[in-house]
Amino acid sequence: MPARAARLSQTEDYLFSLIDRPRELAARDGTAPVPLGVGDCDLPTPPHIVEALRKAVRDPSAHRYPPYAGTQAMREAAAGHLGRRFGLHLNPETEVLATLGSKEAMAHLTMAYAEPGDVVLVPDPGYPVYGTWARWCGAEVVRVPLREENGFLPDLTAVPAAVARRAKLLWVCYPNNPTAALATSGFYAELARFALRHDIVVASDAAYSEIYYDCAPPPSFLRAPGGMKCGIEFHSLSKAYNMAGWRVGFAAGNADVVGALRTVKTHTDSGTFTAIQHAAVTALNDTTGYPERLRAVYRERMHLLCDGLEQAGLQVLRPGATFYCLVRCPDGTDSEGFAKKLLAEARVLAVPGSGFGPGGEGYVRLTVCAGTDLIREAIRRITAVHW
Ligand SMILES: Cc1ncc(COP(=O)(O)O)c(C=O)c1O
Repeated sequence: MPARAARLSQTEDYLFSLIDRPRELAARDGTAPVPLGVGDCDLPTPPHIVEALRKAVRDPSAHRYPPYAGTQAMREAAAGHLGRRFGLHLNPETEVLATLGSKEAMAHLTMAYAEPGDVVLVPDPGYPVYGTWARWCGAEVVRVPLREENGFLPDLTAVPAAVARRAKLLWVCYPNNPTAALATSGFYAELARFALRHDIVVASDAAYSEIYYDCAPPPSFLRAPGGMKCGIEFHSLSKAYNMAGWRVGFAAGNADVVGALRTVKTHTDSGTFTAIQHAAVTALNDTTGYPERLRAVYRERMHLLCDGLEQAGLQVLRPGATFYCLVRCPDGTDSEGFAKKLLAEARVLAVPGSGFGPGGEGYVRLTVCAGTDLIREAIRRITAVHW
């Protein structure tokens, strides 16, 4: 075998593909662990969306290559959703692009901007994809700490001027994975001022924008004054409509930035299957109240989990959004040790906060992507362990 590219030598397998392994191992000895690790919703895609796919797939015109930027209907539906939900007025021709979920688009945006000598600012803790691709593109990754005492918002005043001058991209993600923190409109306004002052593209990961239940609907960075001058936002149908396996989402924002992403994508992929884009239009034009019902499910599950963990004597950062919650590591345990003990003694899968960067140390992340019976079982097992 020839040597792998140097960029792979310092890259481990993706965090969540590693988490799958203990799940397999643990399942062998009888007591299957309760899966509260990976954020992959257990609920099916709603039937009206599945039905829309079924109809669309029969149309032979759907079997050809889709348009590179996404179907006109998909881009219009995305712009319509952004208008109704966030009050944005976007041009579906130039300011919206269909994507294969959001993960690929976030990787490809990095490809469009980052090169050796550049800095990419990533949140710590944060979704691992932002930093991995920046490194692969030869850029320097600078972690911006998210601290509990700052509401897990980055302190932009702490970014040294020399670093900001070299920065091309700045990643934010709210509602946040893994902390579940929310951004305020005030923070977004400050972020846009910072980005415009230093000529940086703000890449806003909004994968969880529709998963909120104990807070006001989270705002869009693009609505901040100046946000459309420097920002691109990534939206996904994976979480909002339980369509993670369908690989469909969209990017929206500044036309020049969206255009740069489109250029990379035209050389890389040929878009989401047209029939799936038809179904995504049905999802985005929801008339059934599905997103609200889904939020009610998460609200119930999250309250159940957090109440149970607190009664078990653990400290939980109760979230208002996302399907994640952070649990503080008991005294004397680090996040990997806590996650291992949860797996070994309570048979509950959790993700160590350190998997999201050094800033995640001190916490493990649990999800409520499991039904209430499983959550009750997890609580029963966790309560039986001495922490
Ligand atoms: C913060 C964050 N962003 C983006 C994604 C990617 O989701 P998708 O590619 O399914 O849209 C995930 C998936 O878990 C995520 O947690």
